[in-house]
Parts: sequence; structure tokens; C-alpha cells
Amino acid sequence: MTQIRGVQPWCLGVTLHLILAAVLHQGLATVAPPTTAPPTAAPHKDPGRPEKGNYVVTRSNGSACLLASMGLQLNITFNSVSQNKTVQEVVNLQPNMTKPSGSCDSDRASLLLTTDAEKTNLTFIFTLNVTSNKYHLSEVSLSADWPDMKEPLSANNRSLDYLRGTFGFSYMCHEEQTLSVAPDFSINTFQLQVQPFGLTGDQFGAGKHSGLVELIESESAVSL
Ligand SMILES: *[C@@H]1O[C@H](CO)[C@@H](O)[C@H](O)[C@H]1NC(C)=O
Ligand SMILES: *[C@@H]1O[C@H](CO)[C@@H](O)[C@H](O)[C@H]1NC(C)=O
Ligand SMILES: *[C@@H]1O[C@H](CO)[C@@H](O)[C@H](O)[C@H]1NC(C)=O
Ligand SMILES: *[C@@H]1O[C@H](CO)[C@@H](O)[C@H](O)[C@H]1NC(C)=O
Repeated sequence: MTQIRGVQPWCLGVTLHLILAAVLHQGLATVAPPTTAPPTAAPHKDPGRPEKGNYVVTRSNGSACLLASMGLQLNITFNSVSQNKTVQEVVNLQPNMTKPSGSCDSDRASLLLTTDAEKTNLTFIFTLNVTSNKYHLSEVSLSADWPDMKEPLSANNRSLDYLRGTFGFSYMCHEEQTLSVAPDFSINTFQLQVQPFGLTGDQFGAGKHSGLVELIESESAVSL
């Protein structure tokens, strides 16, 4: 069963689309994409690929208990003051202006990312099933108070089932993937590697059993 692996099949499925998009960008930028390509955001709204951030949550004794390495893009729909209508914005999180914090319990770990001036608070909560030793991203919440917002936005979903992994291993997905949270809020992740449970030291995975091994195993399993 591939579902016990660290990477979802749809995570791999995005690869072809991205390669196609990269080719179009490099050589055929003015050529219209094939009709099978999904619609993309209007070019002037495209913030480009987000920079990858490395975020660590530590216990009170200073040891790392959650590691995350990822580029994050927020896709938010809100009422704009300047345009006096509902707009959709795609915004990259800037790692050098984003502060991580959080907490780690035996079956629950949280990562809170706060941007400059606390205008955006983004929380990821991971849950561990101590019977099966599997974890997943179970909850995401966002509160944002951007200058152009008519009222602050707050979105929360406590019944998510994303980024499924195994205790002691990281979850990894190098391609872009979209985490839908609410009708007005989704997150695009890039080059994601996260480990919310079972860290030894401040490195991902344990010895040879890194997330990369899980990724390769999963890819060969899918291609068989
Ligand atoms: C943002 O979300 C909207 C609505 O879900 C979607 O149509 C659009 O493609 C998304 N844009 C990006 C760049 O993810
Ligand atoms: C935890 O895993 C066990 C064994 O796979 C399963 O029976 C149980 O329903 C799971 N618990 C939750 C809360 O998902
Ligand atoms: C983010 O969290 C901080 C600290 O709790 C709070 O002061 C700030 O108002 C929050 N920002 C938003 C947009 O909710
Ligand atoms: C929470 O996320 C799930 C999975 O994406 C979705 O089916 C559900 O509608 C969401 N709930 C809310 C309140 O947006």
C-alpha cells in the first residue's frame, strides 16, 4: 500500500505539470499553453516562487522538537479597501520576516508562523496517532490583518488530513502542492519537508531512513 509512505500520489502527479510550466517559461513564454493546462492566476498577481524558510520549534530545554523547511504561498480572498470589492491575493511568506514558535506534546505539535508586525499569524497543528505511529496535519488556522483588508480575516479548519507521515520520519514533497483550508484560504507549499514528531537531534529523519528514502520508495512503488 502506497498510502503508508510519506508522499501522496497526487504530490507526484504535479511533477509533470511543473516541468511543462518550466519549459513554457524558458523557451515558449509567448506561446499559449495547451488547452489541457489548468487555469493559472493572472500574471500581474503572480508573486513568483516563494523563498524556502527553515523553521524550528524547540522545547524548553532548547532541543528541537519540530522541523519544517518549506516555501509558503498564501492564497486569500478578502474585501479590498482600495478596490472596494472582493479580491484574491497570492502572497509569499518571506522567511527573513517570519518568526516561528510553537509547542510539542506527545501527540500534538504546533508551528506558529508570525510575520513582520504580526499582520499574519499562521498555525499548523500536527496530530500523532500513538497506536499506529502515524501523524498528519490536522488543523490550520490563519488570522490576517493586512492594510488593504476591510476587516481582519480569520480562517480555521480542524478536520484536515494532509502531510501524512510516520513517527521518526519526515514528510517530504518537493513539488508544489495545495492545502485547501477554507473557501477563502488555501496554502501552496514548495519544497516541503517537515517532521513534527520523533526527532533525534536537530536533523530530519533517522539515519538512512530519511524522508528522501520514503520519497524514492514511493515513486518506484507508483511507477510499477
Ligand atoms: C487561488 O485560489 C483560487 C480559488 O480557490 C484558485 O482559483 C486560484 O487558482 C488559486 N491561485 C493560486 C496561484 O494558487
Ligand atoms: C489510530 O490508529 C489505529 C490503528 O491503525 C486506529 O484503529 C485508530 O482508529 C486510530 N485513531 C484515530 C483517532 O484515528
Ligand atoms: C498575531 O498574534 C499576536 C500575538 O498573539 C497578536 O498580538 C496579533 O494581533 C495577531 N495578529 C493577527 C492579525 O491576528
Ligand atoms: C476543511 O477541510 C476539508 C478538507 O479540505 C474540507 O472538506 C472542509 O470543507 C473544510 N471545512 C471548512 C469549514 O472549510
